[in-house]
Amino acid sequence: MKNIFVTRRERFNAAHQMWNPKWDEETNKEVFGKCANKNWHGHNYQLFVTVKGIVNEETGYCVDLKKVSKIINRYVIDELDHKNINLDVPFMKGKLASTENLTLSIWEQLENKIKDLGVQLHSVRLHETENNYVEYFGEQK
Ligand code: NI
Repeated sequence: MKNIFVTRRERFNAAHQMWNPKWDEETNKEVFGKCANKNWHGHNYQLFVTVKGIVNEETGYCVDLKKVSKIINRYVIDELDHKNINLDVPFMKGKLASTENLTLSIWEQLENKIKDLGVQLHSVRLHETENNYVEYFGEQK
């Protein structure tokens, strides 16, 4: 079996603030700097979702990327786009609004839905800025 990896990119814009409610204002400002700004700031996020599977002999595809896109939009993009990550997003409730936590939560949102398409979720890569991104490959099995 030849495993092949297929990636779909989606984009969303969202606001957030880095703030640990257990700390005082001074500590938050010291640790998070500008990212702790009380009145929020935004990012143009880019999300890369990679699935792993084999090539279907009849279609020549590993997976129908339209279906992958539909799942990502329904369970991730619709929840995040033009939202405030700290306030508006149920799957981020109680979590610090970092790219790391967002990446882990997006994985959880997608893993089973992608499995239903007959392929495996391989990685979730989330770009917060041009220079910073976070990637998760799931737990080692
Ligand atoms: Ni930020």
